Amino acid sequence: MPPDSPLSFDPRDAIAAKRDGGRLSAEAIARFVSGAASGELADDQVAALLMAVFLRGLDPGELLAWTRAMLDSGERLAWSPEGGPLVDKHSTGGIGDKASLPLAPALAACGARVPMISGRGLGHTGGTLDKLEAIEGLRTGLGAGEHGRCLATAGWFIAAQTERLVPADRRLYALRDRIAAVESIPLIASSILSKKLAEGLDALVLDVKFGSGAFLPEVERGRRLAATMVELAGGFGLEARALLTNMQRPLGRAIGHALEVEESLECLGGAGPLDLRELVCRLGGELLESTGLAAPGSGAARLARALDDGSARERFERGVAAQGARPGALGRLPRSRSVEVLRARRSGFLGCGDLRLLGRAVLELGGGRRSSAERIDFAVGLRLLVDPGQELRAGEPLLEIHHQAGRGLEAARQAIETGLPIGDRPPRFEPLVLERLTAAGVPQAPGLDSPSGPFAP
Ligand code: URA
Repeated sequence: MPPDSPLSFDPRDAIAAKRDGGRLSAEAIARFVSGAASGELADDQVAALLMAVFLRGLDPGELLAWTRAMLDSGERLAWSPEGGPLVDKHSTGGIGDKASLPLAPALAACGARVPMISGRGLGHTGGTLDKLEAIEGLRTGLGAGEHGRCLATAGWFIAAQTERLVPADRRLYALRDRIAAVESIPLIASSILSKKLAEGLDALVLDVKFGSGAFLPEVERGRRLAATMVELAGGFGLEARALLTNMQRPLGRAIGHALEVEESLECLGGAGPLDLRELVCRLGGELLESTGLAAPGSGAARLARALDDGSARERFERGVAAQGARPGALGRLPRSRSVEVLRARRSGFLGCGDLRLLGRAVLELGGGRRSSAERIDFAVGLRLLVDPGQELRAGEPLLEIHHQAGRGLEAARQAIETGLPIGDRPPRFEPLVLERLTAAGVPQAPGLDSPSGPFAP
């Protein structure tokens, strides 16, 4: 329907057009998304259009209009003009992915400001907000004025989405979840980017994971999502880059909230697992270079210096204090009552099977939630004692299970045995960073508009 049409908007027209593979006008998209956000449209009609989009995709113009409509459904954060460039990272999430915790303060130590709005864990991956809340007293639900105050004090914050930030996403995401329409590239891209655009950023880096522990396990789908988001961000004038990174193996050695905070503190002290350090430096390096805080090719080394010289750790302490952490809380992280050491059942090489099983193991121990109302035990989790790929002898210590008086222990043991098989040959893993995508490098595929283009479902 053209914008000046005298006919009233009928959602059935849009649903039928998309169902039949047609194109939606920007006006119809705006009416639909705002109707979904306000509650004016009923669940059945919103769900029907979402399923039609899931099946038919959106072309670049439609995706831009869809994302703009989502962004316009709520407020945009605004920051003081004083201070460094505003940057953020989004990760599609994975097992042991705690990179935001060292990355945000390290970027602040390099002169950037990081207003990071993040999410909670649901399913097999833990959420950054939940990990931070393992720190006694720390609040992620920041009130009016607190975001700006934290940014001014520490140069970073990690906080929960507010009611007013992209309200359309809350309704659309909940409905997608109910109708099995989450894994749609245009719907994921618009959901993620509308929230990042609302943060008022100068630059964004996207960590798009592939492998069995990732939200989209297939490399090709990860690549298409990354290319879609980089190009979509460019359509809004936001410089975005993406790294396609490996989730065929856990990131670092700790999985579980307090254990991951502890590992993040190691990284902030210039130590800890090398893969975590490399990922933090690569992601941060992209942002430092794209905002001019580091010369091309020198961003990762600049970020590494902030981890090694104590400045990132100092920013971390300032930031968590600004978000309410009690004095000394970092030295009093929650600990489980019991730790069991799991040993190799046979000799061979440590491989990685379906990594979601490691998330499942933590869930069984009480460290995850099946529904958004469930409470998390921050203390439980797993700590690998060897790296995937390493050769082991039968009986050698493999992993610690941090549990509370045996709760979920047997189920966790079983999940770990399958998730971390021991084989006769060394497993083959792709590199930690498989590909890097920038606005200049996003393939302008022929058929961008066609169902095989990067905006297709
Ligand atoms: N994360 C989001 O924020 N939105 C999606 O649709 C999927 C993952």
